[in-house]
Amino acid sequence: MREPKEIREKQSARFETRAVHAGERRAPCQGAPGEEDPSTPSGSTNGNFYPISTPIHLSTTFAHENVEQTDRVLGGEEPGYSYARYGNPTITAFEEAVASLEGGGRAFAFASGMAAMHGALMAAEIGNGATVLAAEQLYGSTATLLVQVFGASGAETRFVDSCDLAAVERKVEELKPRAVVVETISNPLLRVADVPHIAEITRAAGSTLIVDATFGTPCLQRPLELGADIVVHSATKYLSGHGDLTAGVVIADVPYDGALEQLRKLVGGVMAPFEAWLALRGLKTLPLRVQRQCENAKEVSAYLAGHPKAAKVYQPGLKDHPDHEVARRVLGGNGGLVSFELAIESTETAREAAFRFLNSLELCVRAPSLGDIYTLAIHPATSSHRELSPSRRARLGVEENLIRVSLGIEHPEDIIEDIGQALEKV
Ligand SMILES: Cc1ncc(COP(=O)(O)O)c(C=O)c1O
Repeated sequence: MREPKEIREKQSARFETRAVHAGERRAPCQGAPGEEDPSTPSGSTNGNFYPISTPIHLSTTFAHENVEQTDRVLGGEEPGYSYARYGNPTITAFEEAVASLEGGGRAFAFASGMAAMHGALMAAEIGNGATVLAAEQLYGSTATLLVQVFGASGAETRFVDSCDLAAVERKVEELKPRAVVVETISNPLLRVADVPHIAEITRAAGSTLIVDATFGTPCLQRPLELGADIVVHSATKYLSGHGDLTAGVVIADVPYDGALEQLRKLVGGVMAPFEAWLALRGLKTLPLRVQRQCENAKEVSAYLAGHPKAAKVYQPGLKDHPDHEVARRVLGGNGGLVSFELAIESTETAREAAFRFLNSLELCVRAPSLGDIYTLAIHPATSSHRELSPSRRARLGVEENLIRVSLGIEHPEDIIEDIGQALEKV
């Protein structure tokens, strides 16, 4: 029986095909029922079938033919597995699939998106004396990680509006940062970074460009192909896509891959095998899901744009979004989220109106996170941006009447009906 190796290894296969096949490890199974080979301790060697799904290898340790081989594997002279924190076949399958979709580099899976971002910053040598230039639109925990954790070890973080290219250029020239950190699409106003242009700026200055591509996914943008040095994903979101695991992944090439491998081994924030299996399964439908989520975001944003109870709608696909033109140039789609401000006519405060809207939803789930098959809705001011001062929230445009919706893959009319009936209650 032939393993469809040609397909999984064929980089020329199209994106959707690689999403299904890349990374799969269809190891031959030894023996069919009743065909045991007594010559081997495990009972059989009749390798005559392949499970089509990569097995979940839960083993924490791996034995070899003899100790000489173990020595070669541990010494890196022979490929193989020895101890789960160093590597695991199910995790390798997920990593290879992600690297294939990102169009290059090596992927390193971590236990969460935050562990992945920490690994990426360490690999970029952010330590004492280093300066980081970070997008002021960054995910709050990433900003806090930079300021508190890396700040405590002597690194300084400065912030810039990543959509103001002149400001980015000026700050890079002034600060000569070791790394610049941006997100493909930011939360919650869905600002779109001009990654190819920022990559030109960082390359000229010798800075490492780290792109958190969680909101973008490799379906909409592959930052390594546009000049970024390191890509980070919270695989908790779109990559796995079903709201049932926490994981992260970093994709990078030389000179960062060696440090990433070593760091992951030593810090130990590794992805678990069951999570890797779920995430690999999720990846197979990534192109289908993201396509549907982008279509749903388009329909819902068009509906909201014409609704009297939505004062402002944020969606990169809408012509009045500040980054509409950039999005058309640098993204392969409009993204799967929509944010909007409620128009408040009653005597309720903005927060009361937002809470009433959210409490009135019947189909859309009131829960944080994004990129799931379920449509999720949140109040950013009291969730993702809760830790910020009211003045900083206001500066970022995170008002009390702002709602963020991450579209799932349900039928758009059902989502629209649910949002419509909840708007009636406001
Ligand atoms: C853009 C972005 N990056 C990173 C993270 C952190 O990911 P995780 O929760 O998997 O650690 C999140 C989580 O919401 C996020 O939205």
